[in-house]
Amino acid sequence: MSDLAQALASLEAGGQADLAAAPDAAALDAVRVRYLGRKGSLATILRGLGDLDPAERPAAGKLANDVKQRLEAAFQARRDALEAAAQAARERADRLDVTLPGRPRPVGRLHPSTQVLRRICQIWADMGFQVYRSPDVETDEMNFELLNIPAYHPARDMWDTFYTTSEGILLRTHTSPGQIRVMRERCPEPIRVILPGMCYRYEQITARSEIQFHQVEGLAVGRHVTMTDLKGTLISFAHRMFGAERKVRFRASYFPFTEPSAEMDVECGICGGSGCAICKHSGWLEILGCGMVHPRVLENGGYDPAAFSGFAFGMGPERITMLRHRIEDIRYFWTNDLRFLEQF
Ligand code: DAH
Repeated sequence: MSDLAQALASLEAGGQADLAAAPDAAALDAVRVRYLGRKGSLATILRGLGDLDPAERPAAGKLANDVKQRLEAAFQARRDALEAAAQAARERADRLDVTLPGRPRPVGRLHPSTQVLRRICQIWADMGFQVYRSPDVETDEMNFELLNIPAYHPARDMWDTFYTTSEGILLRTHTSPGQIRVMRERCPEPIRVILPGMCYRYEQITARSEIQFHQVEGLAVGRHVTMTDLKGTLISFAHRMFGAERKVRFRASYFPFTEPSAEMDVECGICGGSGCAICKHSGWLEILGCGMVHPRVLENGGYDPAAFSGFAFGMGPERITMLRHRIEDIRYFWTNDLRFLEQF
């Protein structure tokens, strides 16, 4: 009996020491199997109980059982402690340091054309002009016919475009067809709108011409709209856009949808009017076409040209941006080169 007690005591002490030394769950498991497994040292001792005197067996059995329970409890405690330590280590490893500075997000910005478009829209809004949206995909009728450009008209060459596979459907070459759409919608109300949007042309792409670009069209229709209104309004626009000291001039021109027609120049801001390469030594930069709405166009919009008159204009925001920032190549606008875009 005392041999047995001694064996159990040393087994327990050995088990406690080994489990305390196990560095991780796997090592602990190996120790457990060695002591408490089916072929472990405790099982070996228990098997020996059968050889004892029957009178001694209950006490010996209880002794062995107590050792087993204490060891099992110790293993469980050690397993919990190891698990808690592992968990703490994991938490330490991927701890979130909320005091670290955030990763900077690249901040986007508005495209230079959008910036200028918004500035133009703002100026016209201040003068009482609403924005009217009209479609990029147009009919031949709207883009040409109703603007007094019949199929045989040589002016069509200036506005050649991309045609779709549907007969008579094309990408608009200017925002002017929007004039017909507003007039047909608003007639017989007076009109004061601008029509910003993308236009398309069948062009050789060069530093000065692209196959797509923005335009801002303007249209005012009413009972007493005169050429004086046209000039005063456009001069006011130019002063707000380029500064009140900027000189402006009108030159007679030709457009099929206006009569009379004109083009407006502003004094070259780069040489101050004395002449340079940008203004081709003229001292002036052309920024828009304009005129009094042709009676036939008014009629096509539903207005009686005997009672109503109107003025219209069309300008290119990319061109204005190029003049403002001395950009020498229009192709920069749509090539998405950040070195260009980030300058604005
Ligand atoms: N549609 C013309 C173009 O694309 C620009 C233009 C000129 C528009 C005179 C007008 C205008 O409304 O009156 O070249």
